[in-house]
Amino acid sequence: MNRSGRRKVTVVGAGFVGATAAQRIIEKGLADVVMVDIAEGIPQGKALDMMESAPVEGFDMAIVGSNNYEATADSDVVVVTAGLPRKPGMSRDDLLKTNAGIVGSVCEQIAKYSPEAILIIVSNPLDAMCHVALKATGFPSKRVIGMAGVLDSARMRHFIADAAKVSVKNVQAFVLGGHGDTMVPLMRYATISGIPVDRFLDKATIDAIADRTRNGGIEIVNYLKTGSAYYAPSSSAVEMVDAILNDRKELLPCAVLLNGEYGVKDLYLGVLAKLGKDGVEQVIQLELLPEEQANLEVSIAAVKELVTKL
Ligand code: LAC
Repeated sequence: MNRSGRRKVTVVGAGFVGATAAQRIIEKGLADVVMVDIAEGIPQGKALDMMESAPVEGFDMAIVGSNNYEATADSDVVVVTAGLPRKPGMSRDDLLKTNAGIVGSVCEQIAKYSPEAILIIVSNPLDAMCHVALKATGFPSKRVIGMAGVLDSARMRHFIADAAKVSVKNVQAFVLGGHGDTMVPLMRYATISGIPVDRFLDKATIDAIADRTRNGGIEIVNYLKTGSAYYAPSSSAVEMVDAILNDRKELLPCAVLLNGEYGVKDLYLGVLAKLGKDGVEQVIQLELLPEEQANLEVSIAAVKELVTKL
């Protein structure tokens, strides 16, 4: 809780992901928002435009736009979307060097003005950017969390609901591993109202869904051509904001710094984590079949290789 007694979330980056996340936060009444961007006038203009929608939409949260970090002081949660998005033909990894510089300097500013904040990193390549943020802030790792798993799992849940012709509300599913082509959609744990999906879908369909999930980001990039997805990414980041601000103890797939889980230490990887007011409150470790563990090892190796390049 910041000094005003109202909850405060900073969104860094006023691009499509940042601005849509900010809009969702205020429309859901989760917190007041400060949206920061280096582009002069963009955060201010978008924030004012959103405030002018408040009388019609009926929310009373406030959003301001700024080009400096003083305005972000005492934020409870900070969502970092700063950096360049992908274009067709680019992998998330192609963004590594440029975005590491941007995310590093952003996080230094955040740590200076909001030393108690919980960070949700959205910038790509996600797992590597979490390492950059951890180093730049010096925060305990439970307060530096990456958003990827909620997004990848949301895509998977949509594909399952669509194929099985059931309400997406009935579909539970999650993805482990890095936010890249090697992510591991855990089909064995995917259910429709608690019933394993293989009771509804044949193997070929399930395999195709796993494949489409792994390529969910590039599918959107190839359509948009000028950038990457933002509706589902912003929804996913805001679900994490909500879990933290409201201390929901929600189990969500997130990029978390592992400390021995799945045989991994000091590496960010997508796992199921319990999110509450302290950030990551627990990591849920599942028993994996040899084949699932082998797939996870491939993903671990890919994230390690990326982090080494930093
Ligand atoms: C995606 C990008 C944002 O998965 O990583 O859409």
